[in-house]
Amino acid sequence: MEQYVIKGGNPLYGEVEIGGAKNAALPILAAAIMTDETVTIENLPNVRDVNVLLQAIEQIGARVERVNEHKVKINGSFIRDLTVDNEFIRKIRASYYLIGALLGKYRKTAVALPGGCDIGSRPIDLHKKGFCAMGANVDISHGLFQVEAEHLIGTHIYLDKVSVGATINIMMAAALAEGKTVIENAAKEPHVVDVANFLNSMGANIRGAGTDVIRIVGVQKLHKTEYSIIPDQIEAGTYMFAVAAAGGDVIVTNVIPKHLEATTAKLIEAGCEVEEFDDAVRVISNGKLRRTQVTTLPYPGFPTDMQPQMAVLLGIAEGTSTVTESIFENRFRYVDELTRMGANIKVESNIAIINGVPKYTGARVNAPDLRAGAALVIAGLAAEGVTVIDDIHYILRGYENLDVKLRELGGKIELVTSEKELQKFILKVS
Ligand code: UD1
Repeated sequence: MEQYVIKGGNPLYGEVEIGGAKNAALPILAAAIMTDETVTIENLPNVRDVNVLLQAIEQIGARVERVNEHKVKINGSFIRDLTVDNEFIRKIRASYYLIGALLGKYRKTAVALPGGCDIGSRPIDLHKKGFCAMGANVDISHGLFQVEAEHLIGTHIYLDKVSVGATINIMMAAALAEGKTVIENAAKEPHVVDVANFLNSMGANIRGAGTDVIRIVGVQKLHKTEYSIIPDQIEAGTYMFAVAAAGGDVIVTNVIPKHLEATTAKLIEAGCEVEEFDDAVRVISNGKLRRTQVTTLPYPGFPTDMQPQMAVLLGIAEGTSTVTESIFENRFRYVDELTRMGANIKVESNIAIINGVPKYTGARVNAPDLRAGAALVIAGLAAEGVTVIDDIHYILRGYENLDVKLRELGGKIELVTSEKELQKFILKVS
């Protein structure tokens, strides 16, 4: 039993350093096995999803040397098994990146269908469409995505919907395909660009990542590289919103401010002060927040992975705000939990109508998924009294040392593993 217990009402002050982006790290680790030479990856976030993927990579025969928490060396020359299936890999979304990587390198693989956070139906038809267009045969049965291609041929692929996963997956397979692949209506997220840069540093020929047309000329093989993953814009945004909600003055370091533009814009609209530096942002908040409207959109729009955190902020802003979720269909499962903390939110279809309340009150709540879990932590930090969050295994999938980093900023939060520890914390803070 792991829980976060939080005594709210303390503003946050100081400096917090952001780690590498989880959603860049996962495809980069998968892509690292596309060469037989040793690849070194730095600025790796030490989070559960990353560790599960590393285990899966090791299980199929690749050598994984964890140099330290944030650095790993991977050698994919020893891969002997092209079937990736275990109870853990089935729980993470990013398992699908092994399809593109292994199909590109070996022209064949079978990977357990991805799990991940329950935020709506999460089809992988566009991944399939891309691989089929390149000449592969795909069979989805017995819980496995099985794909095989005698020849993997570059082609034109139009993605009907902007998809980060499909863009990256097709880009990986195309890096080792024969001829030129063009992906139209590609996702433009910073992590798409990071994966393209990583593959290019291994000798791939990918142009246009970061725009909606990506052109890939297949090469015969990839080579070793040393690469450092970009900072996590969602981790950074989460701390920025924590300061906004709890009040305080914090410098968030090791970030690329450009990647945070949508987040920053909404914080300013909500009444916070944000200063940008070369690789840091400073957020100042007196805790008095104003209403605003936000709609999630593919990058450079407001990220869906910041939507629950935004709603938590607006839940204690003056007036009526709206949050429209346009990417995933079921991403408001945290609203019931927040209601237990005193929020006044009504969900109609994909819009949350939020009537701001003066403050949250501590309660016992469940983290319904990764980002919603982080949002509940923010609510707990801003709330009056003690909040206990269950099911924090979701949060641990994507945040490294969340409790430690928040404590360093003056937040009263602890990860407890027993009722005794929980009671000890409550005694200490009361
Ligand atoms: C990734 C991220 C997730 C983030 C999301 C959007 C990882 C491991 N996860 O998820 O944190 O919230 O991007 O930024 O990196 N779609 C289809 N068919 C497909 C694929 C997607 O219809 O084959 C739809 C999805 O249902 C969704 C939209 O496209 O409505 C975007 O999904 P996508 O960008 O692919 O998200 P994920 O890769 O699942």
